[in-house]
Amino acid sequence: MTSPQDLLARVAELRRLLEYHNHRYYVLDDPKISDAEYDVLFRELAVLEREHPELDDPNSPTRRVGGAVRDGFEKRRHSQRMYSLDNAFDVAEWRLFIERIRREEPHAALAFWAEPKLDGLAAEIVYEHGRMSVALTRGDGEEGEVVTENMRTVRNLPLILKVPEGKDSSVSALPSLLEVRGEVVMLKKDFHALNDRQEEEGDKIFANPRNAAAGSVRQLDSRITASRQLRFMAYGVGDVRWDGGAQTPREHWGTQAEIMAALESYGFTIPQGAQRFESPDGVAAYYERLAAERDSLPFEIDGVVAKLDDLHLQDALGTTARFPKWAMAMKFPAHQAETRLEAIEIQVGRTGVLTPVARLAPVSVGGVTVSNATLHNEDEIRAKGLLIGDTVVVQRAGDVIPEVVRPLKERRDGSEREYAFPSQCPACGSQAVRLEGEVAWRCVNASCPAVVRQRIVHFVSKAGLDIQGVGKKLVEQLVREGRIKSPADLFGLGVGELSLMERMGLKSAENTVSAIAKACKSASLERLVAAMGISHVGEQTAKTLARTYRNLDEIMLAGGDELMALPDIGPEVAASIGVFFANEDNRALLERFRGVGLWPQAEPGDESVPGGVLAGKTILFTGTLPDMSRPQAAKLAEAAGAKVVSTISKKVDYLVAGENAGSSKLDKARALGLTVIDHAAFMRLLDADLDVAGDDQPAEGRAAKANQQQLSLI
Ligand code: IVH
Repeated sequence: MTSPQDLLARVAELRRLLEYHNHRYYVLDDPKISDAEYDVLFRELAVLEREHPELDDPNSPTRRVGGAVRDGFEKRRHSQRMYSLDNAFDVAEWRLFIERIRREEPHAALAFWAEPKLDGLAAEIVYEHGRMSVALTRGDGEEGEVVTENMRTVRNLPLILKVPEGKDSSVSALPSLLEVRGEVVMLKKDFHALNDRQEEEGDKIFANPRNAAAGSVRQLDSRITASRQLRFMAYGVGDVRWDGGAQTPREHWGTQAEIMAALESYGFTIPQGAQRFESPDGVAAYYERLAAERDSLPFEIDGVVAKLDDLHLQDALGTTARFPKWAMAMKFPAHQAETRLEAIEIQVGRTGVLTPVARLAPVSVGGVTVSNATLHNEDEIRAKGLLIGDTVVVQRAGDVIPEVVRPLKERRDGSEREYAFPSQCPACGSQAVRLEGEVAWRCVNASCPAVVRQRIVHFVSKAGLDIQGVGKKLVEQLVREGRIKSPADLFGLGVGELSLMERMGLKSAENTVSAIAKACKSASLERLVAAMGISHVGEQTAKTLARTYRNLDEIMLAGGDELMALPDIGPEVAASIGVFFANEDNRALLERFRGVGLWPQAEPGDESVPGGVLAGKTILFTGTLPDMSRPQAAKLAEAAGAKVVSTISKKVDYLVAGENAGSSKLDKARALGLTVIDHAAFMRLLDADLDVAGDDQPAEGRAAKANQQQLSLI
């Protein structure tokens, strides 16, 4: 039996070792142990933490895999404003900036700290007594969103500050408060791998690494953030304090270079290539050099940021309302190239919109081969005056989706032809229509094969019901082979039929059928509304509707005025909802959903949680649960109004014990007289809500009834 002291020491040792090896791997790029050895240490710590929840620590390396799932992000003010930067677009503008400084500070030597301008999402990470306490997005500079759990999953970010080498290993070598500012980025290779995965699963494709990084930081499910390979590059500090001495930040650090060296010594990654220049000319040369090298860097940059190195000089110059007078962002021009516009083709989207796409002779634009570019709509082709066969300028502003900027009219030789936008859908041949006030032409044939395919792809994707293992490729194959024509057909697919398809064995056919059945049984109203593909109804509107109405019948009955009274719903969205439910085909589809049991009743949202079956109850999960992860179980419990905690105490109403639940936790629970239930009993507890939904018993009463009749106490 290990003594409590030995246990504590081992847990502390494992946490220290894992942080050390994490830093070697992700920051120094110089691992000292293999992945397998790392995993062994990680698993030992995870087991100890599971068995001893009293040792819980939000900064444990085990938190790097995520877990918390939230409804939204709380906002918080930055203790010091996060300023923006003034821009220069060439070296001449940089020289004007230098002249402005010289007018104010004629005698000062102007040395600069310069580094790449990273194209990501700005964030601030707060460390109190060396431990990460809060992470905020930049937001509008005054106020950001609290994204602490998500940022804990960013592997190169220290959870506990490293004590600088050569300092005695007490915390006094570290500031008691440190606000680190920097950019969250996704490396180009991780961005491309993510988009490949998203495409395979029929999910959203990110336009550029910046959007991918921003979308990942603002994920409600921190496990998704953890899977996204984000990196944090520190470029400055906000408030900094030291205990015990009268030291102010300026007494501690006199230059930007010293701040950056300190940040590196605490374990942060700083932007690759950051360096000090003795003169403004050095910065100008650096800008030219980086502009030429930008494509070979592992992350996207859109310029160079130069900051006066001397902090006292920075203070003397001060700021304008929006940016500091001592720093400048020198932006690079967008990547451009010339190529031939070979053809314009039409893509049909899930709402029937016909989008023209430029087919280009392949050309390298900023290191990426471009052969397609969206032209958005008919008006845009006309406004740009494009002819088929034109030599055109294409541009990539850090985006994956390139843009046709303009035709080079002087290169025309008379062989170019005008493009006639089709009046028929290229997929089904039916008449295309351009609705009053809209720029887009649409195919309004509900059974157009292209529309059907895209609708089903959307239905199964993460933005829809998120049916595991049913991706874009499978849907395309099913539609091509005529096995499905509507999302409702998915629920009629049998194992026998699927297993006969190419590249599909019996096992995967079984998995597919069971994933579809599971989605049918467990879909929430919010997900189903989002999955149906109503024009202008995205995830946010779906959430609003699911919070307001109990089921699709109620949404169908809601009139336009009633809908417009809801947050985020204006006349256009309300009209689109009305049109969708008035359509015969859509109503027939909904009846088929009802027929197969896909008719969710709303999970109570924030406002209705007090009425949930577990309202006011506190729940703790331990051990592994069959069929679902702990975060999923926690989400269900929270949706039913419970508060989910991770530490055992007298306040816990139910301890849900899964397999391999630690015996010490169970003993402690019994000693405290808590109700310990198994997973099946937990599910029955939730079901009690559905069984008696609409019953006029108060929720508390229902829970009590379920408690007495159905719980199997362990
Ligand atoms: S310094 C007062 N350094 O650019 C100084 N910003 O336009 C404020 N950015 O919101 C920022 N790379 O997100 C700084 N090396 C870098 C940067 C950088 C990217 C972003 C940052 C900021 C925006 C300002």
